[in-house]
Amino acid sequence: MVTILVGGQWGDEGKGKIIDLLSEKADMVIRSQGGNNAGHTVVNAGQEFRFHLIPSGILYPTTTCVIGNGVVLDPRVLLEEMQQVQSRGISIDRLVISDRAHLIMPWHPILDKLEEEQRGDDRLGTTWRGIGPAYADKVRRIGFRAGDLLKPRFLEKKLGFVLNKIKNPILQELYHVPPLEPQAVLDEYTAYGEQLGPFIKDIFPIVQQALTGNEQILLEGAQGSMLDLDFGTYPYVTSSSPSAGGALTGSGISPTAVDLTMGVFKAYTTRVGYGPMLDGVVARYSVALNGIRSIALTKLDVLDEFDPIRICTGYISKGELQSYPMSNISHLKHCEPVYETLPGWRSSTAGIRRPEDLPKAARRYIDRLSELCGAPIDIVSVGAARDQTIWMQGGQTGLAVRQREHEPSHP
Ligand code: IMP
Repeated sequence: MVTILVGGQWGDEGKGKIIDLLSEKADMVIRSQGGNNAGHTVVNAGQEFRFHLIPSGILYPTTTCVIGNGVVLDPRVLLEEMQQVQSRGISIDRLVISDRAHLIMPWHPILDKLEEEQRGDDRLGTTWRGIGPAYADKVRRIGFRAGDLLKPRFLEKKLGFVLNKIKNPILQELYHVPPLEPQAVLDEYTAYGEQLGPFIKDIFPIVQQALTGNEQILLEGAQGSMLDLDFGTYPYVTSSSPSAGGALTGSGISPTAVDLTMGVFKAYTTRVGYGPMLDGVVARYSVALNGIRSIALTKLDVLDEFDPIRICTGYISKGELQSYPMSNISHLKHCEPVYETLPGWRSSTAGIRRPEDLPKAARRYIDRLSELCGAPIDIVSVGAARDQTIWMQGGQTGLAVRQREHEPSHP
């Protein structure tokens, strides 16, 4: 049983909590794209955990946590995160790293920052973690993969070419910054290889075995559909595919194996970085793009004091009503939003646990969003804690339901 969980907007939808809720019933959780540009905050048993690379399923003692081939991995950051998790008494024995995952090399964050500086006012607002340059090298076929860490001779030879012939000339001649010392990079990455070696594996047979064993597999998305390299607000996007398609190529799972795609949406819209952003049109687009059949709506409580609440239902661009975000970023920047106005509920939802206890206006807002997006809202989150969750009735099949059946607080 395979469930894909994607962010429906620009990231920061509060996926961490939903992933945590679903991970409890998962046998395997796979992260399949992005890198440490992501940050999932999970509040579990009163403790706050912040994950950048390790799937938050690590908090459950029997869940296998896989860092898939589609991820770009900063070994230094991963090792720090592994140490943090261990120092809180949590075992990392169930962590597996794909030998095909690409590595963030020391020049990637440097080039990320230098390229952003070069762009001046047109900068993308990247996280400076080296994500774009690492994916660019992967596509250019000069990337380093996790498996390379286990082959010091190969690593040395490849550094001789990539660092000496390509990266250092760029750093020195184009950007006039000091070159990187190949031996120092080799020593650093060889040491990473020694520490990460036991976790680096070919994940293909491991994932296949989980599939044939009919295990519950959760593909946890990072970022969001509107940051998708192809379908997001290009160029204000990340360099991977955070949509459902990317989850598959980033993990080696076939489309026919997928049972459910769930989307996490914040009850309102924001984005980190730069670029235009609006709303409900985006949600409808995300549902269609990813084949979302079940929605988790987060942070509803943030709207508790807003009255009225406006939902954007369409964009007017060049005099025409558009039902989906346009690919042309300047049309998107200048379009006029069409709003629908609903009454607010002006009361706290943070303590609500059952759908029937929601204020009428909140219920109406949720139902209208569901109607506009074309998918049922099965989970409503009203706070960061695990129990600040409302399992809505009449939901969908899949992991969400399996979770709901086991949720003691569910009516
Ligand atoms: P990059 O992924 O560092 O290249 O950044 C590209 C864009 O994606 C920037 O606007 C970032 O702020 C945004 N971004 C990347 N990762 C995340 C995330 O996990 N949450 C929200 N925004 C993100």
